[in-house]
Amino acid sequence: MNKQDNPVEFVLFGASGDLSREKIYPALFNVFDSEKLFSYLGYSRTQFSDEEFKNLVREAVLKKYPQADLEKLTKFVSRFHYVSGSYDVAGIAQLGYKQKNVFRYYYLAIPSDFELIKNIVEGLDYHRLIKKSVIVLEKPFGFDYKSAKKLNNFLLNFFPEKMIYRIDHYLAKDLVQDILALRFANPIFVPIWNNKYIQDITINIWEKGGIRNRGQYYEGSGVIKDMIQNHALQLLALTLMERPKSLSYNDIDLAKTNIFKKIKLYDCGRRAPVAIGQYEGYRQEKYVDPKSLVETFVSMVLEVDDDNWRGVPIHIVSGKKMAKKTTDIIVNFKNIEHCFWNQDRCQIKNNQIRINIQPHNDIHLQLNSEFDPVSKCAIPTVLRFGFEDNKFILKDSYENALQDLFCQDRFTCTNSSEILLAWRLIDRIMKLLELNRKEKLFIYNAKNLVKILEKESCLVKKE
Ligand code: BG6
Repeated sequence: MNKQDNPVEFVLFGASGDLSREKIYPALFNVFDSEKLFSYLGYSRTQFSDEEFKNLVREAVLKKYPQADLEKLTKFVSRFHYVSGSYDVAGIAQLGYKQKNVFRYYYLAIPSDFELIKNIVEGLDYHRLIKKSVIVLEKPFGFDYKSAKKLNNFLLNFFPEKMIYRIDHYLAKDLVQDILALRFANPIFVPIWNNKYIQDITINIWEKGGIRNRGQYYEGSGVIKDMIQNHALQLLALTLMERPKSLSYNDIDLAKTNIFKKIKLYDCGRRAPVAIGQYEGYRQEKYVDPKSLVETFVSMVLEVDDDNWRGVPIHIVSGKKMAKKTTDIIVNFKNIEHCFWNQDRCQIKNNQIRINIQPHNDIHLQLNSEFDPVSKCAIPTVLRFGFEDNKFILKDSYENALQDLFCQDRFTCTNSSEILLAWRLIDRIMKLLELNRKEKLFIYNAKNLVKILEKESCLVKKE
């Protein structure tokens, strides 16, 4: 597919929306190859002339890349056309069928609403626009197990599984893909990647910003559905999965699915395994209910219930309006038995691997590798493998995702079984939180959060 000699069309539903402007046009521009027979069709309800739309695309690219190559940009923009219409059979008729033998990507950059998606897909089907095409959906895929299953079954009536791309843009981040290399290209880590040597794992996805103008969406979501069901659980699965048989999508997917099947809440004794909070001022945000009980912060402790991982707490922390934006995977190793150095006297540290997915894009390895001849202590040292200085080699996640999509490489996608298993877990957690949600939800700001967590959270690790 996507052969250079066959024309390809990228049809973007929701072409005037924020996601398209902020992420998709700049990424499409970066992967644009003028030698290829590639054209773009923007579709949304807003009225634009072709010229106005081309300007919108141009501005969107320049906003993100003010130094963009203008010659390339002119060529890129000239490949765009625009159709304004409703998301239904009548509207979709306007997509027409100008060219035969075109391979199409239908990218749905629209709110994840079943009726909306249904209308579009039925419209495409009615006008015989589905053959030779791929459909691309963003998260959230459904809003619970039942709705995700319904959406999935619906799509499978029209597209075979391999033509459905459910993109998770976290899987397209460079350092996330590096987890595969770190874990499986280095024999030193293979035998110690289990509960015999690993004490605990933390996955932090902290954001500094609030919900911006996404109140409508966020009120129906909250951080657990927005960030944990998809991004955080994908990071967890990649970190803990067994070595896949090969690097094919199916094998990686199978290995991840095996983890998803075994995730459960960790037994925290008297403390609850899930703590939720809401940032100060959330209720004053646009489109937010002034009495909203939606969580913008969560700290939860999970466990993978199998022989490799039983007993290892996996602490997931995600929130908006945190002290900084950072995404880390931190693996803490156990102390060695029969160590020469008593930790009080010598302050040796546990071995730790910290993968900073953003913003630093680096990996830290905490060792105790220096010997002090005077105190006869082992002294902690940190090795850093950094990519910060090589920013040019790091790509935006949407760029990676689109590149993969155009090569029909599915690494950045999640399959339906992973999604459903993740929803099953999230449904259980949401049910648990339903009871006395008002009492459970604490109000926080970036400064008082640590103190609150000391009281509320199942596990708080000192960094
Ligand atoms: C999206 C969420 O999936 O990821 C947003 O809907 C969140 O709420 C965003 O802000 C974070 O993505 P990134 O790439 O900026 O970490």
